Amino acid sequence: MIEYAGIHNPYAVGAYGVDRNAAVLQRYRALHEGLLRAAAGQLPNRDDWNLRIGMCKHLYEDAEAAEQLHIRIPELRTSSATLTKEPDARLTLLFEELVHARTDLEWASAVYEVIKPAMLAAFRDHAAKTQQIVDQPTIRLLRTAMLDLEDQIAWGRELLASLRSASSEPEDGAEFAARMQSFLTAAGGVSGEGPRSTDLPRRWRSNEPYAIPKTSKRCAKTMGPTTLIRTSVEPPPADPIARELAFKMRVRQEEMTACDLIAGVLYTQRNMPWAFYRDLARHIWDEARHAMFGQAALEADGYEWKSRPQYTSDYDVNAEKIPSAKYAWLSIGIEEGAMVSLGKKKEFEWCRDEAKHPLMAQFQDYDWADEVVHANLGRKWAPDLMGEPIAFVREVAQKELAHFWSEVQRAERKAAT
Ligand SMILES: [Fe+2]
Ligand SMILES: [Fe+2]
Repeated sequence: MIEYAGIHNPYAVGAYGVDRNAAVLQRYRALHEGLLRAAAGQLPNRDDWNLRIGMCKHLYEDAEAAEQLHIRIPELRTSSATLTKEPDARLTLLFEELVHARTDLEWASAVYEVIKPAMLAAFRDHAAKTQQIVDQPTIRLLRTAMLDLEDQIAWGRELLASLRSASSEPEDGAEFAARMQSFLTAAGGVSGEGPRSTDLPRRWRSNEPYAIPKTSKRCAKTMGPTTLIRTSVEPPPADPIARELAFKMRVRQEEMTACDLIAGVLYTQRNMPWAFYRDLARHIWDEARHAMFGQAALEADGYEWKSRPQYTSDYDVNAEKIPSAKYAWLSIGIEEGAMVSLGKKKEFEWCRDEAKHPLMAQFQDYDWADEVVHANLGRKWAPDLMGEPIAFVREVAQKELAHFWSEVQRAERKAAT
């Protein structure tokens, strides 16, 4: 069809007036943001490596979908002040309960078998029933979100099948998922247009507020124990260049601990502008990509990495600090610090010129680019978080670094005796 720019059904009256459309899109925004925040709170507690990587990707995609809704909703005669409000106390309750998932199976089943499939079905319905000309900007953002949701759900089903077949426990996440379904149903479903009971649902686990853990988790069955010291590969290569290269690959792989740290900041820091949460979601996904740089380089060269001890210092050593101190430690102390002449640029050049390893050189090239972005994020948000100028934040970051290294060295001394 060449008329109407290929838009079908131009004559049909749509199901959504402007006001109703804005109200429903507010719910979609709340769902994407609720998933983002709950995933960030859950990440340090989740075990399975593949699940962790998937969570980091999907929380970033949730943030991107929410970002588009932040742009669209104010176009619908709606004050941008509503973007910081919760549209439905029952949806809020759903996410206060969701963040209490206790196992990988509970989390994955609720997200990939209940919430995301319900969102996909609602988005498909919305895109089909809205007036196709008047609401094309909404249809476009929903199409992008639907593509992500389709991939996420298909991936989640595969992951769940593999987790369930590997598990010897009767627990398969079904009870938790059924509870989450009942909270969603009580809210009238994703759109809020389903039947809503007049009985408000009772809290289940959320009478106690969820607290992020003091130490981050890794799967005890498939991975080595967590550790505060770097352990590289075993046995270390005899050639000094190969040894240094393998060490670098493991340092990249262990950047998962940075994901946990930022996720803890995202979850616990309330009342920041939306752009802060969106930036941190991207930051988490970037560090997960860096972890995959290491994973891919190690696997490509035949190194075993999963059964090796897993470095969790970024999260574990900083666990007791307030969010602004954690974020200053990473973004200003570590990431801005990595911009000096011996930092990221040098790592890239060493992999290219000394190790002559094309894959690691390419990874380091992009790692450097990402870290420039992260240092900028630190300069943008750390002063806001702390309510202090950047010079003060840099002083705080130096103190936090000194504390961090003294803890890591203490762990090294303990391991040596
Ligand atoms: Fe990184
Ligand atoms: Fe980074």
